[in-house]
Amino acid sequence: MLEYKNEIKRRRTFAIISHPDAGKTTLTEKLLLFGGAINLAGSVKGRKTEKHAVSDWMEIEKKRGISVTSSVMQFNYKDYCINILDTPGHQDFSEDTYRTLMAADSAVMVIDASKGVENQTIKLFKVCVMRNIPIFTFINKLDREAKDTFELLDEIESVLGIRTCPINWPIGSGKNFKGIYNRNSKRITRFYAANNGQKALESVEVELGDAQVDTLIGKDNHDILSEEIELLDGASSDFDLDLVLNGELTPVFFGSALTNFGVETFLKNFLSMTTSPLPRESSEGKIDPINNEFSAFVFKIQANMNKAHRDRIAFIRLCSGKFTAGMEVNHVQGNKKIRLAQPQQLMAQERKIVEEAYAGDIIGVFDPGIFSIGDTLCMPDQKFTYAGIPTFSPEHFAKVRQVDTMKRKQFLKGISQIAQEGAIQIFQEYNTGMEEIIVGVVGVLQFDVLKYRLEYEYGVEVLLDMLPYEYIRWVENKNIDVNTLSVSSDTKKVKDLKGNPLLLFVHRWSIQTALDRNKDLKLSEFGR
Ligand code: G4P
Repeated sequence: MLEYKNEIKRRRTFAIISHPDAGKTTLTEKLLLFGGAINLAGSVKGRKTEKHAVSDWMEIEKKRGISVTSSVMQFNYKDYCINILDTPGHQDFSEDTYRTLMAADSAVMVIDASKGVENQTIKLFKVCVMRNIPIFTFINKLDREAKDTFELLDEIESVLGIRTCPINWPIGSGKNFKGIYNRNSKRITRFYAANNGQKALESVEVELGDAQVDTLIGKDNHDILSEEIELLDGASSDFDLDLVLNGELTPVFFGSALTNFGVETFLKNFLSMTTSPLPRESSEGKIDPINNEFSAFVFKIQANMNKAHRDRIAFIRLCSGKFTAGMEVNHVQGNKKIRLAQPQQLMAQERKIVEEAYAGDIIGVFDPGIFSIGDTLCMPDQKFTYAGIPTFSPEHFAKVRQVDTMKRKQFLKGISQIAQEGAIQIFQEYNTGMEEIIVGVVGVLQFDVLKYRLEYEYGVEVLLDMLPYEYIRWVENKNIDVNTLSVSSDTKKVKDLKGNPLLLFVHRWSIQTALDRNKDLKLSEFGR
């Protein structure tokens, strides 16, 4: 095992999360540039098309193409081997986005300095908190007018409920953006805008308090900076690596991804503050990544990447040991020994066959239709399971009807398979058969994907009637007769694919009504 100890030790596997447009793609691209994985800015493509996408199939197709090729990007930087997990964040926002966070060891949260904490960031952040993974904050676009820095930090603390510890501090913003003050080294890195603020790669370092600083950033800026730093030193949380690793404190960095300013400083600090893959909880206790042989779990399934073959690819996150192409493994949930076929890894835009991979890595393997999300793979003589991946609450619901009722069988097959992949969730009302199927999704674009796929992959045309429900709660109580629950008139009682009971609500307050009226009722935001 020692032979691959170093390989595992140098792995860093993280996801970048943000609200659309905050600069996730730009930051990813700059990180890849540092690693030499790409040699031209603008290579992480599909940005424009992705963003202005209308919900027609061509766009969905393109998007899926994009999200497939950029699912994981691996590159080396200094002695580290870095895996960046892409979290689809635009209109195709889906459960996959959440699940990806299950495979990451830490998260980088990109925030637009002029906007602060936005909607989608809040949702993604909640999932990170659920897993207690370290969260690092990169406040981006300082080359544009930004909100007051203290205000931004307050917002992160109050809206997201995590303590902040700025590692560096911006000097001005927009036209007056002069650079960044590093609190640790007490040095200033000067930002020089050139080419209309598009390029600024020059930086100079000077001690704060030095007479030169007035010349460097202007007396006013120097005064403001001194005041702010004094205030900050008195008020902000001290850096505490344990709190960071526990997800209770987020180190904050400032910069401008577009102009590549502050990005490498961020990367270096981030790498030194994060750890290689840590032991994961399993049915047989914690599994240490280094002292155990191969084990992994499935966190994402992508179907029909090649239409001619109806193929599916299961993305697995290696949790311990080493994977070698052709090795036999135990698929625990399927209770079967299998050989993982066509293992592939995604390097920036390229897909390549992998010969070996280590704990921390993500690989895609051919799925003949046997895997489900959350399944565990381990050595043939072992059979432990990793904790399953929770079902995340859908936020949009629709009733699905077939146009041609003769195609019942294909319809059920299609919708069940798509649900099994985890692209949608399906629910049934009590006392009705499968005639009435309610579909729940995290992002509305999933409805279009469903409609298209049913039609073109299964030959079934469907109509979707939007439903007004926005909140969903699983009933935690065992053996409860859901029909006896007293709920408000806007609440619907349904069950999921596994027969678990749950409630759909139009208004948030109806959740409280249900809890008030039914004394022992226990509700959960996540399914099992
Ligand atoms: P996303 O993946 O989080 O959705 O954001 P993305 O990186 O695509 O960035 C969104 C827009 O913000 C892009 O502009 C990008 O160039 C710009 N941007 C990113 N980082 C910075 C920054 O540090 N400063 C400034 N001023 N802009 C930044 P766009 O015009 O929408 O797209 P494009 O034409 O640049 O591709």
